[in-house]
Amino acid sequence: MAAQTRLSHVDGLAGELIVGGYQLKELAGRVSFEEAAHLLWRGALPSRDELKILNKEIAGLRALPEETMHVVRAAAKAPPIDALRMACATMSLDLKQPDDISPAADMQAAKVLAARFPTVVAAHARLSAGKEPIAPRTDLPLAANFLYMIHGKEPDPIAARAVDTYWVTVIDHGMNASTFTARVIASTRSDMVSAVTGAIGALKGPLHGGAPGPVLDMLKDIKSGDRAEAWVRNELAAGRRIMGFGHRVYKVRDPRAEVLSSVADKMSSAALDNRKLFELARAAEQTILKVLDEVKPGRNLRTNVEFFTALVLQALGLEPRSFVATFACGRVAGWCAHVIEQHSEDHLIRPQSEYIGPRGLKIGGE
Ligand code: ACO
Repeated sequence: MAAQTRLSHVDGLAGELIVGGYQLKELAGRVSFEEAAHLLWRGALPSRDELKILNKEIAGLRALPEETMHVVRAAAKAPPIDALRMACATMSLDLKQPDDISPAADMQAAKVLAARFPTVVAAHARLSAGKEPIAPRTDLPLAANFLYMIHGKEPDPIAARAVDTYWVTVIDHGMNASTFTARVIASTRSDMVSAVTGAIGALKGPLHGGAPGPVLDMLKDIKSGDRAEAWVRNELAAGRRIMGFGHRVYKVRDPRAEVLSSVADKMSSAALDNRKLFELARAAEQTILKVLDEVKPGRNLRTNVEFFTALVLQALGLEPRSFVATFACGRVAGWCAHVIEQHSEDHLIRPQSEYIGPRGLKIGGE
């Protein structure tokens, strides 16, 4: 048990995720990302007035300072998640007292980070495509503004709602690797920006947030439902893992996959190519589950959040290389909430390790 938390709870056997006291399905698609962030940061959903104030504050913080934009430009050829990590590190520059870890300073830093992450990811997506970044608008919700800054036009409401639902769905998830990283850093009384910068590094890996890009590659490789069985058997025989399946905690279907499957279903009804991909994914999912049960009996490898994330994000017209950075735009609110909680506990996290090396060696080998 690494920490006690009021923020979220994952029940891997029941397939339940509780966020701030609510079942995920109670929140996803029903509250905005800003409302869910308020729930985690303040312990309750906002009143109408509180939400108005929060929306206004976050809208006012979206534009990137020159130093941050400079780093995003310099990182135009780097993977988006690396650009986000570098840009995030600059976000302490215009905080009044970056080392202040009081609740008020943490809250301000949380708003800055949540407001600016989508701007960084959108600016980087445009720069890496040889286009100029688009300045954020303050009159749109965070999710709609994200799509506006990427595509240069106001998004249709279904697409904006899909991003909002996606970010709420991934906002927090117990003591996952990136959240643990953030909490360890915060536990040393280090600051919010340092903790979140470290968390991005942990999220990047394919065993954590980096799986949706490879999920899309897998579906493209499988091509049609009837090829799925041979494909997955071949991968498993080669000792490779199937991306979008398996989870350290869930031994049943990830409840986030459930939410995102219906978002992907809605999103894909607008375009034929997306529909075909969605239908392929549904067919491939069933085959993969069957083969995993057969080849890896007793491991209970089930569909995880990343499988349907891939479909939602590609239907939104995002490049697979931006997927993990887009995930970070949602998870950042959870990381910040954990940093606030860890700072308030003021307890150093210092796990033990088991020494399995030799003992009693002597210089010179005698
Ligand atoms: N495909 C094939 N085999 C798998 C998979 C998979 N996706 N996941 C686990 N296994 C197998 C392992 O090979 C191992 O087999 P063995 O007992 O024969 O050696 C067994 O299941 C247990 O594996 P562990 O690594 O001990 O399981 P762990 O709980 O550590 O794995 C993880 C969790 C890392 C997510 C894993 O399931 C995986 O690699 N999945 C694919 C990557 C992925 O989808 N990541 C996103 C996770 S969701 C998120 O972080 C947001």
